Amino acid sequence: MSIIDIKNLSKQFENIIAVDNLSLSINQGEMFGIVGPDGAGKTTNFRMLCGILTLTYGTATILGYDLIKNLK
Ligand SMILES: Nc1ncnc2c1ncn2[C@@H]1O[C@H](COP(=O)(O)OP(=O)(O)OP(=O)(O)O)[C@@H](O)[C@H]1O
Ligand SMILES: [Mg+2]
Repeated sequence: MSIIDIKNLSKQFENIIAVDNLSLSINQGEMFGIVGPDGAGKTTNFRMLCGILTLTYGTATILGYDLIKNLK
């Protein structure tokens, strides 16, 4: 079962594309790490998944709940 499912997730700040079309799926029981250089977009990705930042484009579900529809 997919716990986190991200499709084409993108975030643009003014003239910077911080996250560019990220798609990934994390299954139940999997351990997942995200590694990248400074400014790669790791924190921005997690901020979107936590609802702290809005998405510019894309969709994400967590435990089957649509991130955009269930932010409140
Ligand atoms: N609130 C913001 N406004 C404008 N640009 C931002 C904002 N937050 C992040 N950025 C830019 O988005 C890009 C991705 O930043 P982010 O902090 O997500 O990277 P990171 O992978 O977490 O980096 P680090 O390893 O240094 O923590 C960078 O170019 C950063 O300057
Ligand atoms: Mg960071």
